[in-house]
Amino acid sequence: MIGSSELMKEYQNVFVFDHPLIKHKISILRDKNTGMKEFRELVEEITQIMTYVSMGDVELVPVEVETPLEKTVQYRIPEESVAIVPILRAGLGMVNGVHKVFPTARVGHIGMYRNEDTLQPQEYYCKLPDGIEKKTVILVDPMLATGGSACDALAALKKRGCKNIRMMSIIAAPEGIERVAREHPDVRVYVSTLDRGLNENGYILPGLGDAGDRLFGTK
Ligand code: PRP
Ligand code: URA
Repeated sequence: MIGSSELMKEYQNVFVFDHPLIKHKISILRDKNTGMKEFRELVEEITQIMTYVSMGDVELVPVEVETPLEKTVQYRIPEESVAIVPILRAGLGMVNGVHKVFPTARVGHIGMYRNEDTLQPQEYYCKLPDGIEKKTVILVDPMLATGGSACDALAALKKRGCKNIRMMSIIAAPEGIERVAREHPDVRVYVSTLDRGLNENGYILPGLGDAGDRLFGTK
């Protein structure tokens, strides 16, 4: 990305982080002995770092500010110019990390689960904020495996008129990245780490297991 090449490696519209803090945190996240509380905190912290780096080109508008000494023109991000859209469930774990950076961002939700046999995503919920089509939308899901859930969620956002969409995932498989880049070449995809591939059940290797279960303690 423009100005951040030392922190991310770019392949077309896919940006893979090369950041020591993220590497450190991901190594703990992957560990099967890391408990739910620490897992949740790490997902939030990694998302926060990713948001800082990936939004380095966000649009600013001039504003007049009065310091104790004089008036000056400064630059701010327009209120409510960003929306966060987590793919339920696991994407919920990333919302607070983006909110730390953009506290006024509205949140939309897209519910998807993968059919365990076919690996095809099933949409079960979609509620997006009014006016989302005018905002920069950050779609979040910690896992990008086959890319099916991400592609369907991106299609749903585009159907609602969204044009400026970015996606952030913590762990991605090459299969997922290739599919999203092929079907949605206009979307910038930011991933913390690119893993080796998928196993026969569609799980990322080495991965971290089932992100939703580890975030919410369901298994
Ligand atoms: C996981 C993950 C993604 C999806 C990735 O969700 O959070 O949404 O799988 O897989 P894909 O790239 O092959 O589509 P899951 O379906 O397990 O639902 P959950 O978040 O409710 O656990
Ligand atoms: N969903 C997960 O939670 N983990 C994977 O490895 C793949 C899909």
